Amino acid sequence: MAYRAPELFDVKTGVTLDEKVDMWQYVTASPGRTALLGVIYTPIIIFVLNILKQLVVPQDPSLPPEVFHWIPFIGSFIAYSDDPLNFLFECREKYGDVFTFTLLGRKVTIALGVKGNNFVLGGKSTAFSAEDAYTHLTSPIFGKDVVYNVPNEVFMEQKKFVKVGLSTENFWARTLQGKEVRSGLDKSFSALSNDLDGGFTPLNLIPLRDHEIAHIMIALLMAGQHTSSASSSWTLLHLAQNVEVQEALYQEQVDHFGNLDGSFRPMTYEGFRKLPVLDPAIHETLRMHPPILSTMRYVRSDVPVPSTLAAPSKDSVYVVPKGHYVLASAAVSQWDPTRWSDPQGVAAQAFKTYSDENGEKIDYGFGAVSKGTESPYQPFGAGRHRCIGEQFAYLQLGTVISNITHKVELRLEDGITEIPEHNYHTMITMPKKPRNVCYRRRRFD
Ligand code: HEM
Repeated sequence: MAYRAPELFDVKTGVTLDEKVDMWQYVTASPGRTALLGVIYTPIIIFVLNILKQLVVPQDPSLPPEVFHWIPFIGSFIAYSDDPLNFLFECREKYGDVFTFTLLGRKVTIALGVKGNNFVLGGKSTAFSAEDAYTHLTSPIFGKDVVYNVPNEVFMEQKKFVKVGLSTENFWARTLQGKEVRSGLDKSFSALSNDLDGGFTPLNLIPLRDHEIAHIMIALLMAGQHTSSASSSWTLLHLAQNVEVQEALYQEQVDHFGNLDGSFRPMTYEGFRKLPVLDPAIHETLRMHPPILSTMRYVRSDVPVPSTLAAPSKDSVYVVPKGHYVLASAAVSQWDPTRWSDPQGVAAQAFKTYSDENGEKIDYGFGAVSKGTESPYQPFGAGRHRCIGEQFAYLQLGTVISNITHKVELRLEDGITEIPEHNYHTMITMPKKPRNVCYRRRRFD
C-alpha cells in the first residue's frame, strides 16, 4: 500500500493536499461559478460605489444639489412615483427650489415655484425640448408626423390649425347639434358654420396628409379625455363634500337658467360666461388637482439658472447641463390644500391675470396667447406648450357640472367625510378608489 505523508492528507475529507489544490484551481477556473460571483458581487460593488460617490466625491459646485439615493439607476423613482408632491415638498425643504434627482437613469433637475415655472416653461425650445422628452411615450400612441414626432415649429403649426377649430363658439355650434340646436337653426347657424370653415383655412396652407389628420385627432382625444374626466370627477367629489357650495351652485343655475316651473332653459354661451360660483369651483378644482402634475423638457444645451431662482453663492450660478431633463410642477405652485371654491382665492385671481383676455400676449406660432409662464396657476401649462383645449375644457366641465347640478343632489357615502386621495400611479392624477358619490334626483317628473 502506498504511503501518504500526513501533512498532505486532510483527515476529515480524505483528500490529499495535491487534490485540494487541483480542486481549487478547478473552482476558480469555472466560468459558471465566476459568472455567478460576478452576478452577486457586481451589483453590491455598484451599490457601494454609488453611495461613496455621493458621500465622498465632492460635487461640481456649478451643478444643482443632488437628492441622495440608495439604488443606482432607479434613483428616487419609487419615492417620486408613489407620492410626487410629498417628494417634491420634502426635497424643497432640504435643497431649495432647484435640485436634481435620478429617475430611472435620467438626471432630472426640478425648478419649483413661480420662478421655477418661468425658467422651465419660458425657456427657449432650442434649449428645453418637449419633443425630446416626450416622443418615446407619445409617438407609439399618436403615430408619426404629428405633435412630438415633428420639429417644434411644425407642431406649432399643427396647434394653430387645431386651436382655431377649438374656439368656444365653434365648440358650442358643433357639439350641441342635438334636438334643441337643430330646432333653432336660423341664419346665425350658417354664419357659425362659415366661421368653422374659416377655422379650417390653415388646412389649405399646410397640406396635411390623411394619416396626419388621423394622428392629430388621436392626440387630441388623448390630451382631452382623461384630463377632463378627472377634473369633472374631482369637482363632483368636492361638491358632494361641500353641500353649501353645491346649493349655492344650484341657486346660481336657477337664477341664470331657471324657468318659473322649476325646469331649466338651455344654457347659452353668453349666459355661461360669468358664473361666480361655478367658475371658482372649476378653477379651484384644477388648482388643487391639476390632472398633469408636472411638465418635463429635455435639456439640449447647458443652461444657467437665473440667480433669482437659485444660486450656489452670491458670485456664481448653477448650470443645468445638456443631457439632463428639467421639470416644473404646477401642483407645487398651486398647492394649498385648505381651500376649495374660494371666489376671491389665488386660483380666481391668478386665472384673471393669466387668462388670454388679460395676460401678456405672445405668439409662439399658434396664434397670440397670454404667456402665463410666471403665473402660480398653471393647470393648463404655459408658454409655447400651453394647452389649446383650455376654453373647450372649461366649457365642457361647466356644462357637465351644471347639468348634473340641475338634476341631482350629491353627497359622499355614509360615514365618509373626506374626498379620496390622489392616485399618482396613473399618468393623469385620478381620485383613489373608492370614489363614490351618492345622488338624489331633485325632481321626479
Ligand atoms: C381639464 C382639461 C385639461 C387640462 C388640465 C390640460 C392640461 C394641459 C397641460 C398642463 C398642457 C401642457 C403640457 C406641457 O407643457 O408639457 C397641455 C397641453 C396641451 N393640451 Fe391640454 N389639458 C386639458 C384639456 C385638453 C383638451 C380638451 C385638449 C384638446 C381638445 C387638449 C389639448 C392639448 C394640446 C394639443 C396641448 C399642447 C401640447 C404641447 O404643446 O406640447 N387639452 N394641456
